[in-house]
Parts: sequence; structure tokens; C-alpha cells
Amino acid sequence: MNDLAGKHIVLGLTGGIACYKAAELCRALVKEGATVQVVMTEAAGQFITPVTMQALSNRSVYGSQWDAREANNMAHINLSREADAILIAPCSADFMAKLLHGRADELLSLMCLARPIAEVPLLIAPAMNREMWAHPATQRNVAQLKADGAHVFDVGSGEQACGEVGDGRMLEPDELLAEVVAFFQPKSLLGQRVLVTAGPTYEAIDPVRGITNLSSGKMGFAIARAAHEAGAEVTLVAGPVHLATPRGVRRIDVKSAQNMHQAVMEQAPDATIFIATAAVADWRPASAAEQKIKKDGTGQAPALAFVENPDILAGVAQSERARGGALYCVGFAAESHDLLANAQVKRARKGVPLLVGNIGPATFGQDDNALLLVDEHRAVELPRADKLTLARQLVAEIARRLGHAA
Ligand code: CTP
Repeated sequence: MNDLAGKHIVLGLTGGIACYKAAELCRALVKEGATVQVVMTEAAGQFITPVTMQALSNRSVYGSQWDAREANNMAHINLSREADAILIAPCSADFMAKLLHGRADELLSLMCLARPIAEVPLLIAPAMNREMWAHPATQRNVAQLKADGAHVFDVGSGEQACGEVGDGRMLEPDELLAEVVAFFQPKSLLGQRVLVTAGPTYEAIDPVRGITNLSSGKMGFAIARAAHEAGAEVTLVAGPVHLATPRGVRRIDVKSAQNMHQAVMEQAPDATIFIATAAVADWRPASAAEQKIKKDGTGQAPALAFVENPDILAGVAQSERARGGALYCVGFAAESHDLLANAQVKRARKGVPLLVGNIGPATFGQDDNALLLVDEHRAVELPRADKLTLARQLVAEIARRLGHAA
């Protein structure tokens, strides 16, 4: 992916052991397509050298407002005018206090104060000892910085450099990268609550065997991420898959279609959008044996009886909230042929305003896919792309249909 292509980020480092993570973060931002200009405070230089940051950003590092390299001698103005965002990572407790008071006695704080506040967002990744983080002064500063328009990221929790355990660690480089990428996405689903189902289901035959399918869950997880990036509150009901939960998404793990049905019915009353990407098993064994079914020596296979699972999507789509327009339902259709005709029929049968068709064998387990969006009026093709790109396009299409295009 090149999610930050064309973005110029000023990466500010302040004094803290988390400076070692800033090196990896800088590399990750560059890899994602951004250009990165590093600015360091004197204290940051105690933890990591400008040489390291220069090598990773491929630009010489700034550290002083008296830097004579700038023809007009105004590094604070020049650097902040070029930026699409200023990201302070790590941001120490002391530096937050400085920002809060509009202090400007060295280059980084001077540049933050001098930035055009409406055009250059200030992103802050705090990093400090747990007592410093929990201190009322710091919490007051965080609240005020947010009120002043800064975007303050969460902190991580766990073991700290001082040996103590608690909140205050800087987020990991990959987490911060995801936050920065999300920050730049259009907020087309702000205020929406999105419920997504993803992955296969597992229908037990006995304690050691069951019936499942080849769905990887990747498309549903990508949609959950894209909806969160677009500003929605997202709940993801996931069948058995080995995928990391997208940042900021609430995940409920389930196994069988009945578990998934129950979880969805509990969550749906709070949702405003329901997106059913799960490959739900249509049938389950009528009764799962309590003990492993053994060969009985006759050479005869055991006879399995099946019963149909509830249709989760159709059930939600028939609810009063969905029929009244308070819950917008989106279905998926995994077909093997005649995609358009099958998708149109399925949309009508499921009673949903939007159905997304894809060719099952071409998508299961793959990192990319192609989609066909079928609504009451027309069919729109989203050509083959990676699943996150498609998920973002789908989110934009849903927002447009809800009249919330960003
Ligand atoms: N779905 C569901 N609950 C089920 C079966 C399907 O919520 N018990 C949802 C899927 O998540 C998907 C849509 O319904 O959004 C279509 O699923 P699909 O398996 O393609 O369709 P089926 O209803 O099984 O129809 P068919 O057997 O004709 O393929």
C-alpha cells in the first residue's frame, strides 16, 4: 500500500526512551509513501542521534531555530508551511505542557505555535512513566490540547523502561502508522455505528470435527478497518479466523452460525449500518455428538442429518429498524457464475438495499478481489484491487447512499 503517498509529515521527537520507536516509525512512514522531515529537541538527542534519523528519513535533521541553512533564517515558518501534518512522537509530559502554554523557546515548540492551525494538524503521541501520565496536570494538559484542536493518540499499556507497569507507553510504530493513515481518510461515516460479520462459521459434528469453509475473513476485517477510519464506531462479529483486530474496532469472537446469529441480534439494535460479509454455513448437523464418533468396524459411514441455520442477514433486514430506514443493511454474495443476475435475485430475496457480489473461488483467502455493487437502480463495478482499497471504496459508496459523502 501507499496510503501516505504525497503526504509530507514533520516528525518531531522530544526527550524520552520511546525515541527508539521513532526510528522505526520514521521508516514505516517513508515506506507508506510519505516524505518525512525530522525535527528534534535537545533532549531527544540524548536518546537517539540525528544521524540515525537522517539516514532513515533521507533528509537532514533540524534541531535549532538558529539553523543558518535556511536562507530567510526562519526554519519554524518554512518547515511548518510545507507540512500536511506535524506528528510529535514521542511527546514528553514536559513538551505537552509547553505546547499547552504556547511556549516557543526552541525550534519544535516554536514551529508548532507558528503552524497555520486550520491547515496543519498537530498529532501527538504521548510517551511517559505511568505516574506522569496519570498525574492530574498531564491529564488536564491532554484535555486542553484536545480542546485547542490537537489530535492526541492513546497511550499503550504494559512494562515501562523504568521497570514499572501501567499506562503511558508510546503506541508501537505499526499502531501509530495505522493511526496516521486513518487520520487522513475522509470521515464519511462520522456518527454511524457499524456492525460487521466476517469469516466462516464452524458447525460441530462432534468434539473434534466440524464443517466450515474457506472464507479467510480478510474482506470483513478490511471493511471494519475502513469504517473505523471513516469515523464510525465499529463492532466486528468474527467467526474462527487468525486475523489481528483492526485498531479501534470492538471484536466479538463466535464459532457457529447460531453463535453469530445471537451476537448479531444483540448488537443490531445499536447499529445504524449492518454489513454481512460472513460466509455463514447454511446448514449444521442436527445434533452434535457429545463424544467423538468412532468407526464401528462395519465400513459404514455414520448418517448425518442437517438442519438449516437462521439467515442472519435476512433476519436483520426484516427488523422494524431496518424496514423503517434506521438500519442500512448490506449483504455479500459469493457466487461461482452469473454474478450480476445472481446478485440481483439475492438482493431482492434478502430484502437489502445494497448487495455486494463477488466470485467466491476468486476471493477466498486472497489479498485482492473485485466487487459488483448492486442496488435498486444499478450495478457498479469496483475493479480488482487489494481488499482494503475495495473496503474504503465500499464505505464511500455506502456513505454516498446514506447522503453522508465526505
Ligand atoms: N448470510 C447470513 N446468514 C446465513 C447465510 C448467509 O447472514 N445463514 C449472509 C451472508 O453473510 C451474505 C449473504 O447472506 O451477506 C449471502 O450469503 P450467501 O451464502 O452467498 O447466500 P445464500 O443465502 O446462502 O444463498 P445461496 O445458497 O443461493 O448462495
